[in-house]
Amino acid sequence: MSKQLFYASLVLAFYLSYQYALAQTENSNLPLKAVNLGNWLVIEGWMKPALFDGIANKDLLDGTQVQLKSTKLVKYLCAENGGGSIVVANRTKASGWETFRLWRVNETAFNFRVSSKQFVRLTNEDEGNNLVADSDSPSDKETFEILRNDDDPNKVRIRAPNGLFLQAISETVVVADYEGSSWDDSDPSVFKMNVLTGSIIRGEFQITNGYGPDKAPKIMQDHWNTYITEDDFKFMSENGLNGVRIPVGWWIAQDPTPPKPFVGGSLEVLDNAFTWAEKYGIKVIVDLHAAPGSQNGKPHSASRDGYLEWGDSYISDTVAAIDFLAERYANRSGLVAIELMNEPQGVNLESLKSYYQAGYDAVRKHTSSAYVIMSNPLDRDSKVLLSFAGAFDKVAIDVHYYNLFSDRFSHMNVQQNIDYIKNQRASDLSSLTTSNGPLIFVGEWSGDWKVPRASKEDQQKFMQAQVEVYSGAKFGWAYWAYKCDSNSWSIKWMIENNYVKFN
Ligand SMILES: *[C@@H]1O[C@H](CO)[C@@H](O)[C@H](O)[C@H]1NC(C)=O
Ligand SMILES: *[C@@H]1O[C@H](CO)[C@@H](O)[C@H](O)[C@H]1NC(C)=O
Ligand SMILES: *[C@@H]1O[C@H](CO)[C@@H](O)[C@H](O)[C@H]1NC(C)=O
Repeated sequence: MSKQLFYASLVLAFYLSYQYALAQTENSNLPLKAVNLGNWLVIEGWMKPALFDGIANKDLLDGTQVQLKSTKLVKYLCAENGGGSIVVANRTKASGWETFRLWRVNETAFNFRVSSKQFVRLTNEDEGNNLVADSDSPSDKETFEILRNDDDPNKVRIRAPNGLFLQAISETVVVADYEGSSWDDSDPSVFKMNVLTGSIIRGEFQITNGYGPDKAPKIMQDHWNTYITEDDFKFMSENGLNGVRIPVGWWIAQDPTPPKPFVGGSLEVLDNAFTWAEKYGIKVIVDLHAAPGSQNGKPHSASRDGYLEWGDSYISDTVAAIDFLAERYANRSGLVAIELMNEPQGVNLESLKSYYQAGYDAVRKHTSSAYVIMSNPLDRDSKVLLSFAGAFDKVAIDVHYYNLFSDRFSHMNVQQNIDYIKNQRASDLSSLTTSNGPLIFVGEWSGDWKVPRASKEDQQKFMQAQVEVYSGAKFGWAYWAYKCDSNSWSIKWMIENNYVKFN
């Protein structure tokens, strides 16, 4: 063997053993025992409703659905055909066509979106200032002010963009030509507004747009600075947790000047999270929880009004957000994975796969070591991505296991819940687990269930059963969440109160 060749092979041997050692250290973090830092960089109002308390007219946020009944005619306003046509006042009952989703312009001004996804507007003066629902995008012409009665906030009058009030003159004639100010029930400009409280969405869009550009930046910055701090990472590491899944929204990639109403400043907070995680030996999963257009219509994907809009036309923007995050964090020792999208539900499977392919490539441009996590669509079988994901290197599939959100759990007792974990969940996990396929990640689960008045011991058993079964997931698991007003959703509370122990 020549001298050069000898040295070359020595270098190669060192290189290989170094790579091997590197692979060992990386893999020694798996399976993760992680927790979701939910409601931090992507707001979920149910986890801390008080965050919304300072918003004026806080029952009229983006996406809130309202129905409007003329007090004179005792008939509901209706977008004929669900949209694309006139608005009339001839319905005795209200359902889809009689329901308007609010887009908030400011605390008193709104656009009304109908079920065809079109917006209500006024026809021009020469066309009679009639109310129609045929506009594809809102502007000043689609902006109406809701004036609420001091004594009864659900008694309203509606000022149209021409400065005049709407009135239901007859069942088929709704126009904006009224200058008066009467609140009398017999006045055709007075409406009873029915706010569908079950439709109220409280997510990142609602909180930032609700507070508006003057107040939202400080509210959000204060929340980010106090909700999760370095002490929390210390607490996690002291209590046997070794990972965090951090939900982020697509707008973080445009920090510090994201499109309105989103607020800049969250990127620095994520940077800090990496620093703290690295200090306490905790691995970070960056999880794109809110994709542009909303991949599920839920508040936690920052939907404006509950409609799912994500699809092919949003793929390039979504990939751009992933590319940005991968580039920024690729070289951080704390990074273990980037999750391409949380809980798609109702999206086209082929679009999702094209996106996952492109998102994977974007991550791999910057790192070969970080895992790429693909979330299983909520409305599909848990195996739907298995063979697709098997074609990639270092990929995990994320499945979410809640004994909630389905009727089958509503009447289960304690033992039935535990058996469900030990049987169905365990068997689902093992059917997903293959020797050379993608790793499986139980990216969300919780101690919450439908058992009323469960004892502490029962809850402990339920937690224990889940930990045992989900520990079989090769990538690991992540509890939802770290903190929450509702105790059983807070792993911090559960640990401090002895419901569960990880070390
Ligand atoms: C309401 O008015 C519209 C427009 O004239 C008409 O097409 C529709 O049939 C009416 N509906 C009822 C329930 O009266
Ligand atoms: C809200 O917007 C409307 C319509 O653009 C405007 O007339 C009104 O002055 C605004 N109100 C506030 C409080 O900014
Ligand atoms: C990450 O590290 C690699 C190798 O050291 C380097 O080539 C690359 O530029 C770094 N990327 C960033 C975003 O700093």
